[in-house]
Amino acid sequence: MMEKTKILFVCLGNICRSPSAEAVMKNLIYKKGEEKRFEIDSAGIISAHEGRPADSRMQTHAKKRGYKLTSISRPVSLDDFNYFDYIIGMDNQNMADLKSLSSNINSHAKIVRMMDFAYDSNYDEVPDPYYGGAAGFELVLDLLEDACEGLYSSIK
Ligand code: 4NP
Repeated sequence: MMEKTKILFVCLGNICRSPSAEAVMKNLIYKKGEEKRFEIDSAGIISAHEGRPADSRMQTHAKKRGYKLTSISRPVSLDDFNYFDYIIGMDNQNMADLKSLSSNINSHAKIVRMMDFAYDSNYDEVPDPYYGGAAGFELVLDLLEDACEGLYSSIK
């Protein structure tokens, strides 16, 4: 049996960006008929929202594009660095935090930045939409749809 490629998306709270990245990527690989080849999850740097579903504003914007956000917020654990093949940070602070968290262990996971897979080179981070308005949530989805296509092509 073929080993699954395991991907963990990470943002600060695991209630906006990384749950959306998880849903967009799951949708993409489902459309390609490749869902058996991948395992996709998401987590946060902080545990402040642990146990909660995705932010209702993010859910509403995602639903308009046909995505259902199913994740329940959890913080990244040290075991994640051994279990996953890719741990993908949404912004530069996430990347710094992931590198710092894994600095004393031998991480199996490649720690990479989401927008490094995107075709659109106008953004190098997926901006935090939490304190902004509707446009910020739409931008998150635009950027994730682009970057997930690039991620899929680079690892398929
Ligand atoms: P996320 O958005 O990192 O995309 O889930 C945020 C969620 C919560 C907070 C900040 C960003 N917060 O400050 O609680």
